[in-house]
Amino acid sequence: MKKLTFLLFLMVQVSFANDMVWSKTGHRVVGDVAQEYLTRRARKAIDKLLHGQSLAAVANFGDEIKADRKYKEFSALHYVNFPADKDYKDVEPSKYGDLVTGINKCIEVIKDPTSSNEDKTFYLKFLVHLIGDLHQPMHVGRAEDRGGNDIQVQWFGRGSNLHRVWDSNMIDDYGMSYTELSDALPKLSKEEIKQMQAGTIYDWIEETQEITNKVYDSVEVGEKLGYQYGYKWWGTVENQLLKGGIRLAAVLNDIFK
Ligand code: ADE
Ligand code: ZN
Ligand code: ZN
Repeated sequence: MKKLTFLLFLMVQVSFANDMVWSKTGHRVVGDVAQEYLTRRARKAIDKLLHGQSLAAVANFGDEIKADRKYKEFSALHYVNFPADKDYKDVEPSKYGDLVTGINKCIEVIKDPTSSNEDKTFYLKFLVHLIGDLHQPMHVGRAEDRGGNDIQVQWFGRGSNLHRVWDSNMIDDYGMSYTELSDALPKLSKEEIKQMQAGTIYDWIEETQEITNKVYDSVEVGEKLGYQYGYKWWGTVENQLLKGGIRLAAVLNDIFK
């Protein structure tokens, strides 16, 4: 009986550990793209705060601190859930905070001249991570299935769920490193960049939610997913990574202007 309890405990731990982690590679691509679009001024300020580390190198910080209970209060800030037919602003915000309040908090602390450099560094790393999460459709999800975590599907014959397919299965199985992936993304014209950077965090949430709704419609519970699913959605994955990077640069350029 004790053994069984321990086994169950382990299974729960493993399933929690797999929750909510937009592939390490995906977050790094977002950081790597953003690095290319920083103004000189922003790059200098960021270099100082990150002690020369790249945005890609710190992009997974937000997930790494989940292992430390000290940062428990940050765990709800990786996602936002609200009904498919509602706008974020029409819904009572979560008392635990969400992706929007998380991003706003980061920006506020970094901009505040009274913040310590240590705090600015912490929130800068966290911001790089959260702008990535904002572009993972399942992180702008629905509460009833915890952003697709409870929608079980198969990925190439193995158990997975819709959240994980979008967090990591598609990106990891594509088999490219983060630099290969970011190099493979299209180079945009100044006008295209400007268009992509337009709008607010709220507009970007609504835009992601439109994709989220299509992603929810893209599978049946228990469906066997593989090449066809990846082929159909890969363009969307790439576009979300590109948008994440270009918009992260916009947010950072604005903070350090
Ligand atoms: N837990 C609850 N909702 C979630 C979501 N949308 N993404 C990740 N983890 C969650
Ligand atoms: Zn996730
Ligand atoms: Zn995250």
